[in-house]
Amino acid sequence: MKAKLLLVTVLGLLVISTRAAFAGDVDWSKSSASPVDADTITIFGLGYAPTPGVAYNVDFKFNQTTLIFEPVLSTLASIDESRLGTADAARGGRLYDKWWKVTGANEPTGNHSRYPSTGQKSGADTWRCKECHGWDNKGKDGAYASGSHYTGLAGVYDARNKNSGYVFGKISQHGLTLSEQDIWDLTKFIKETLVEMDKYINFTGASKKAATGDATLGKALYENTGTGGGQCVLCHGADGTALKFDGGTLAVGDVANDNPWETLHKIRFGHPGSSPAMPSAVANGLTITDQINILTHAQTLTKLVP
Ligand code: HEC
Ligand code: HEC
Repeated sequence: MKAKLLLVTVLGLLVISTRAAFAGDVDWSKSSASPVDADTITIFGLGYAPTPGVAYNVDFKFNQTTLIFEPVLSTLASIDESRLGTADAARGGRLYDKWWKVTGANEPTGNHSRYPSTGQKSGADTWRCKECHGWDNKGKDGAYASGSHYTGLAGVYDARNKNSGYVFGKISQHGLTLSEQDIWDLTKFIKETLVEMDKYINFTGASKKAATGDATLGKALYENTGTGGGQCVLCHGADGTALKFDGGTLAVGDVANDNPWETLHKIRFGHPGSSPAMPSAVANGLTITDQINILTHAQTLTKLVP
């Protein structure tokens, strides 16, 4: 491919000219580096002017003989950042929840290689983004700081401030059967929709897990069946028990109280692969205040488990 050949030349120049000034063809302004191991770094989002909008991720490995970092061309991946514009962040949120339910891929088997041996989950669960990075996106620093979902792994919340090439590159390195479009949708979800859930859901204290919105306004939204509403009543009924989950043992009221972070995520992005499709409040333009009000009302609904 032409672009690849050009880049090979450019990277060749890069290596040779580590001590000289660059000719101006390579744009480092949006790039960031991340260590892979002691000898290897990945440069994300390296721009190359003759192909506008296209950046590259590539690993550089330290050559002990020449004493310079050299590109590992087998790792070269082009990143067309313009794809972020048309990506679907709400679909990205559902992929984060359980990607194979959205893509139709086979359910993974065995444990994901990054899932720690000390973790308490096994099988397909260990392949869900949320299992390692949390419903609140904060991994070990969030709701999964302890308990049966503890992994000790970091979240993705801080990655929202990294450039899209970085986020795209990091997701691609997980060894999951995701298409380029899937990864763009996930990248957009991470970069443009994440919220600080601690601001809206009590994280500690006697009222731990209580959502801090307005339940009266939330009820109106829960029962509003227009696109500006939550539409929840259509499928879950006014008391939240019309659909039952987990083999008929749980209703919306149970899940909203037991796991407000998961419920907020599902209010915001929908439930992956559900039939009928659960709407996404983010896609329908509801504000975070609306979303929290709905969650606050959901916590007042009938519980099947007292
Ligand atoms: C089995 C556990 C596991 C699963 C499942 C998992 N990840 Fe990760 N992820 C990790 C680990 C460990 C790292 C840190 C290693 C690294 O930076 O290369 C990481 C790093 C990341 C980063 C970079 C964060 C940063 O700030 O540098 C992003 C973004 C990310 N993951 C997104 C995802 C997405 C999206 C999915 C689902 C499609 C996913 N991960 C599924 C374990 C997991
Ligand atoms: C068009 C129908 C529809 C609408 C509208 C809808 N949902 Fe759902 N919802 C579903 C379906 C279907 C499921 C998956 C049920 C299952 O797992 O069997 C689901 C799943 C859920 C779950 C996850 C339960 C679990 O633990 O798996 C929660 C919580 C939830 N919905 C809350 C809401 C709230 C709150 C609203 C309004 C903002 C809403 N839903 C709107 C259809 C809908």
